[in-house]
Parts: sequence; C-alpha cells; structure tokens
Amino acid sequence: MRAMHTSPEHPLLSTIVDDLATRGWSQQALFLPLELVGALAAECRRRHAEGELNPAGVGRGAAQEVREAIRGDQIQWIDPGQAEPCDRYLELMDNLRQAINQGLFLGLEDFECHFALYPPGAFYRRHLDRFRDDDRRMVSVVLYLNECWQPEDGGQLRMFLADDVEHDVQPEACSLVVFLSGEVPHEVLPANRERLSLTGWFRRRGNDPF
Ligand code: OGA
Ligand code: MN
Repeated sequence: MRAMHTSPEHPLLSTIVDDLATRGWSQQALFLPLELVGALAAECRRRHAEGELNPAGVGRGAAQEVREAIRGDQIQWIDPGQAEPCDRYLELMDNLRQAINQGLFLGLEDFECHFALYPPGAFYRRHLDRFRDDDRRMVSVVLYLNECWQPEDGGQLRMFLADDVEHDVQPEACSLVVFLSGEVPHEVLPANRERLSLTGWFRRRGNDPF
C-alpha cells in the first residue's frame, strides 16, 4: 500500500484531468522544472552513448517489426530503480494515474514508458497508440526534453482532432502532452536535429477471462 503523500500534489494534475474529460487531450508548456527535464535529457543521452537505445518496432509481440518507413526513433524502456530523475518522473505519473482514475473512472492500472530519440530526418507516420491485438493503452503521455527548439527544427507532434482540426505541438523542453490513446491519431514530423522525449501510456487491466 502507498504511504502518505510526501510532496504536495502537482498543481496541473486537475487541469489535465479536466481537459481529458472535456476534449480528450491536454497540453502543458511548463509541466516540470528545467532542472528535472535536463537531468532526464542527460540520462537519455547517456543511454544513447552507451548503445542502450534500440530501433523502435511497430506492432506488438510476435507481430512486431522494425520499419523505418513508419517510424525511425530509437527507444529504451524505463524501469523503477535505474536512475533518480526517472524515479521522480514515474512517481509523478503515478499521481497523474490516480487523478485520472478519480476524475474519469478509467481503471488505469499501470504506466509504461520509454525514452525516444529521433535522429535528424526520423519521423513517425500517422497512427493511433492502440494495437489491434492489445487495447490496454488508454492514455498517452509525452514529455519533451529539447531546449531551445525552433519551429524550423521540425519534429512537431501533429494531432488530428475533431472537426478536421490539426494541432501541432513543438517538442520543447518541459512541455507535456496527454491524450486518449484510442481517439487521437497523430504523427511526428521529420526533425532537422536530434529530438528527445519520454513517451508513456497508462494501461487498464487486460480483458482475459481469469
Ligand atoms: C509514439 C508517439 C509522439 C512524440 O511514440 O507513439 O506518437 O511526439 N510519439 O514523440
Ligand atoms: Mn503515438
């Protein structure tokens, strides 16, 4: 069982829950202090330098394959206990998970996340964050780690919203985007410089009968 809160609740969690309830997505320009985001970026770069990032696959399980014509990023999954800044982020995401459950009754059970590094020129074609054979992903969360990103650097997250509205998000450090995984198609436009992020998903329990 979880101990009492040791730190005050993050002030933006209820705004994010309200945004999800009313329109299915939320964007926060300053979700975390630069000190923590810089430490996460350094951890991502360290893992990359040590060869720990691998080309991302498309699909799930046995059906998974690497297809650079669809996505060209390199990733590494994050586990608790590996690095202090990652643990701080995981703890905060657990608070967000509980806030979403209280507000939206989604029954989110866990959070999985990975670092992602897009080398210059890499992109991720339009997709939904749900797999045909696995519909446990309910809410997607992306934290960006890139200081001083310029519009001409490319690499925007393009979200395809209701009424044919397209919304672009600059992958600027400290920005967070949250959206319903099964309802918001999106793509990552090609970037002209290295693009780092931490991408994760809140999942509900699987539908197995036991
Ligand atoms: C993904 C994804 C978006 C981004 O990894 O599924 O869509 O902006 N990432 O990095
Ligand atoms: Mn996605």
